[in-house]
Amino acid sequence: MTHEPRPIIIDCDPGQDDAVNLLLALSSPEDLEVLGLTAVAGNVGLEKTQRNARLMCELAGRGDVPVFAGCERPFLRPLVTAEYVHGREGIDGADIHEPTHPLEDAHAIDFIVDTLMAGDGNITLVPTGPLTNVAAAIVKEPKIVSRIAEIVLMGGASREGGNVTPSAEFNIYVDPHAAKIVFGCGRPLIVHGLDVTHQVIATPDRVTAFAEIGNAAGRTVAQMLNFSSRYDVEKYGTSGGPLHDPCTAAYLLKPDLFRGKRVNIEIETASELTLGETSVDFWGVSGREPNALWIYEVDADGVFALLTERLSRLP
Ligand code: RIB
Ligand code: CA
Repeated sequence: MTHEPRPIIIDCDPGQDDAVNLLLALSSPEDLEVLGLTAVAGNVGLEKTQRNARLMCELAGRGDVPVFAGCERPFLRPLVTAEYVHGREGIDGADIHEPTHPLEDAHAIDFIVDTLMAGDGNITLVPTGPLTNVAAAIVKEPKIVSRIAEIVLMGGASREGGNVTPSAEFNIYVDPHAAKIVFGCGRPLIVHGLDVTHQVIATPDRVTAFAEIGNAAGRTVAQMLNFSSRYDVEKYGTSGGPLHDPCTAAYLLKPDLFRGKRVNIEIETASELTLGETSVDFWGVSGREPNALWIYEVDADGVFALLTERLSRLP
């Protein structure tokens, strides 16, 4: 039986970890058909997240993948960014320049709607930033919901606690109202929160392995992670920073590296104290219907072996 690549749309806010996720996905065309990248404001403003997405297409030699700019702010909340982690350019550590890879004229929301409406229900959405674009597409055209195969996202936290407030993880915190729409859409959700991404630590040895691949992609990844890890090393006392977003592409490529549980997840949108909390009902005490696969365990060595091997395929 021929192996057809899975069609996906990655919605992202590069961010070094988003950038690594993009390279992992773009390095695997025989497994993942990246229909397009949509950028959203998050780690840094939209002007830079869309540019950074285009830079990763250029670095991966994937001139065939269209990049679209989406929403420049959340639905209701003021935009909160994370230059304190990612640097002013969002992917500090990388060679930052104006990419030759073009930005498409169409809005990201229109690309998501049009692509899903033209599809046959087999397209997976892969959001790794605030969920503003995805939620806006659902609001604009609710008919797309039944045409989404799965949503494989990075966001949320439970046992780990939040990384922006004690309760909330950044992607959900920035746009909790958008998250509420996406988590309530009824389609299969595979959720990689901090509980699992904090097990995927870019230690010095692992970063050195990227640098030793010997190509531009490996060098760039090592340089980006050396920059972004400093914040988490200082904050958590770990030997490296967590690789959040690459858990999504790694899951798509090798799901057996991950372990999850079907649970109910609700999003807090009212309380100022716990705004953006993902209330993960791990033990089923709420009686609410499960709406997500909550990923809570990972073979981190397996993820890094996959990443190193796939990055070595790039120019
Ligand atoms: O909390 C981590 C998440 O927020 C990652 O997706 C990172 O890129 C930022 O978007
Ligand atoms: Ca991100």
